[in-house]
Amino acid sequence: MKRIAVIGAGAMGSGIGQVAAMAGHEVMIFDAYPNAIEKSRDAILSSLNRLAAKNKFTDQESKAIFGRIYFVDKMESITGCDLVIEAIIEDVDEKRKIFEQVESIVGDDAIIATNTSSLSVTGLAKVLKKPDRFIGIHFFNPPVLMKLVEIIPALQTSEEVVQSAIGLITSWDKIIVKAKDTPGFIVNRIARPFYGEALRIAEEQIAEPSFIDQCMREVGGFKMGPFELMDFIGNDINESVTRTVWAAMYFDSRYKPSVMQANLVRAGWLGRKSGRGFYNYNSEITVPIAESKIDKKEIADRIIIMLINEASEALHYGIATKEDIDLAMTLGVNYPLGLLKWADQMGIDNCVRQMDTLFDVYHEERYRCSVLLRKMAASKQTFYA
Ligand SMILES: NC(=O)c1ccc[n+]([C@@H]2O[C@H](COP(=O)([O-])OP(=O)(O)OC[C@H]3O[C@@H](n4cnc5c(N)ncnc54)[C@H](O)[C@@H]3O)[C@@H](O)[C@H]2O)c1
Repeated sequence: MKRIAVIGAGAMGSGIGQVAAMAGHEVMIFDAYPNAIEKSRDAILSSLNRLAAKNKFTDQESKAIFGRIYFVDKMESITGCDLVIEAIIEDVDEKRKIFEQVESIVGDDAIIATNTSSLSVTGLAKVLKKPDRFIGIHFFNPPVLMKLVEIIPALQTSEEVVQSAIGLITSWDKIIVKAKDTPGFIVNRIARPFYGEALRIAEEQIAEPSFIDQCMREVGGFKMGPFELMDFIGNDINESVTRTVWAAMYFDSRYKPSVMQANLVRAGWLGRKSGRGFYNYNSEITVPIAESKIDKKEIADRIIIMLINEASEALHYGIATKEDIDLAMTLGVNYPLGLLKWADQMGIDNCVRQMDTLFDVYHEERYRCSVLLRKMAASKQTFYA
């Protein structure tokens, strides 16, 4: 049985450690801060109690799972671990220091992984003496409930390490998609227009956030509208991911951050966690959904076509297979349908026409049609037979 170490006992580290223990592993959870370890212990215990109350397992099994988790305050305790998953704060220098330290403690065969959402896995691998043992294993929040895991090999990662990671994480009852090491990997890249285009529509005063949310729920079939979701994620977090992807894509206008959202962050209107974001969560009064003369389908289609265009670009650049792209968006962010399946349903011709119409109106690079869609339309192809 492999021994797993998790570095960083925050929201993600605690969840990943719990998932590994639930899969039968002995787990070492290390954090540099004692209060973080205490919080992690409490969070895991209450999560296990909740799962036991839902009959996911017995109280005895729950105790056994908790008994397999060791909370450690010295990094040296992770010696002998076969896989180390780092989940500390998203800071490249802090992470690099951790990897150098980890490599000096664990054996030569241990796999070292990062749960980073936005940093280059290849850039992190570089600090290791054996960079071929390094890989990105990107869980979604909360790791215990979210089935999807993105596996991101660095340029240096050996195929053996890729296969070991895929085999191991699959055995943890997770569904794996493999992504090229590029900004935002699959989900955080392809989802950008869900927020970005909705913000653009609101900034142009075409419709109010509450109306756009309604369009995406009612016409698009999404569980949450973009503004509700940004408030849920936290506008600070969401804006920072957008900024990172935008900068890492050399300021491609498709990923451009929004002044409207930046202002909310400046005001401290971070969303649910601060009581106010696009919506006011402190108010007892329910604000009616702002009406608009614009057709709901027109608004939903504009956001959906931008998502499809992004998914098509990701496929065109080999970020992942079409199956993994569709799986990632349905499991990672609960989209009602895979975007490439959606493109087939809408008709590839129609997708090209919609992108070209946006481009004709705005004359902005942001609205350029994916070359793959255009080629497919010309040869009357679909993504799926
Ligand atoms: N929160 C999410 O939705 C999410 C989803 C996927 C991936 N991630 C990624 O996972 C990582 C962790 O995110 P999080 O949300 O759990 O953060 P968090 O702030 O909840 O936890 C970070 C933990 O790391 C600890 N830490 C900081 N510096 C450390 C160090 N030098 N050594 C040891 N421990 C240290 C902190 O004490 C804290 O407990 C980040 O890279 C983030 O990008 C986050």
